[in-house]
Amino acid sequence: MFGRYIPDPIRGRQCLPQQARRRCGNGESTVRPETRLGETLAEAGNPTMTRIIAFFNQKGGTAKTTSTLNVAAALAERGQRVLVLDLDPQASLTMALGVDVAALGLSVYDLLLDESVGIAEVVTPTSIARVDIAPSHPDLAAAELELLNVLERERQLDNRLRQADLDRWDFVLVDSPPALNIISINILVAIRELIIPIEPHPLSVMVLQRLFDTLRRIRRLNPDLVLLGFLPTKVHHSSRLAVDMIATLETQFPDLSLLPAIPLSVRGAESTAEMTSVLHYMPRSTVAAAYRDVGAWLLGEQPASASSKEAAHHA
Ligand SMILES: Nc1ncnc2c1ncn2[C@@H]1O[C@H](COP(=O)(O)OP(=O)(O)OP(=O)(O)O)[C@@H](O)[C@H]1O
Ligand SMILES: [Mg+2]
Repeated sequence: MFGRYIPDPIRGRQCLPQQARRRCGNGESTVRPETRLGETLAEAGNPTMTRIIAFFNQKGGTAKTTSTLNVAAALAERGQRVLVLDLDPQASLTMALGVDVAALGLSVYDLLLDESVGIAEVVTPTSIARVDIAPSHPDLAAAELELLNVLERERQLDNRLRQADLDRWDFVLVDSPPALNIISINILVAIRELIIPIEPHPLSVMVLQRLFDTLRRIRRLNPDLVLLGFLPTKVHHSSRLAVDMIATLETQFPDLSLLPAIPLSVRGAESTAEMTSVLHYMPRSTVAAAYRDVGAWLLGEQPASASSKEAAHHA
């Protein structure tokens, strides 16, 4: 159903602590020491390094925004300080976090196009404690054209993040547009870690080819980018599509992790209407539990893959 797929381009660059032992055999990893996630940040010699992670898939509707929001909430619940960057002109994440787009002063549009604007001027608090946002604005749709004449146009976000004092946050989570455009390239050049939310759909695995082609080209600009793995979303146990997708990902990408799967939940969208996270709106739901698992996984506290299979079979 999901068709064969070319080998992944970032093989061997994605081991977390538990995987470094389990999946990378003797612990030998091809990940370069300074980016190896198998080490604690302190061991890596950079105890204060803020992790910069994007939820990225050029396919629309794979729960990138929902996952950015709820993983941010899950990390914040555990005391982590999180900045979310909304880099989608749809500004869904911005609105979902209670920010009035019409009343915005500066947004990520200004951040990308005006060198004098820094992250600190754009960031605003959200309805969730310990979660700040660099909000989006529909104007961001024009950035594609406007960046055409900008020198190093694919490095604008990277430059701003490098100039910024990110020590205020433990994590920067980036929500991406459903596109492979110059904004997407800016994201892939600027981030250090990548998560691909993927929903059970016959085209989901096929569209990965273009994404991985892009990642191959990006590697020249961002050689240290680490693909953390796939985040299966909207997974329902009785869906053949979900079970097949997870089996296909495991077969075709044996070196890539499957993060804890997020169950399908019709009520999940209600939390967006309430401008908060699923963790606040339905704290005992399976979706909230799954996003908490993803948060724990990112903190190196939960094994991957097993829980994804579990969710596919029992969600
Ligand atoms: N676990 C879930 N169960 C059911 N529906 C979900 C789940 N997660 C997200 N959705 C719904 O799926 C739709 C797409 O989610 P979302 O907007 O997060 O995806 P996206 O990848 O950000 O979309 P886009 O590509 O347009 O930015 C929304 O209607 C959302 O409420
Ligand atoms: Mg979105």
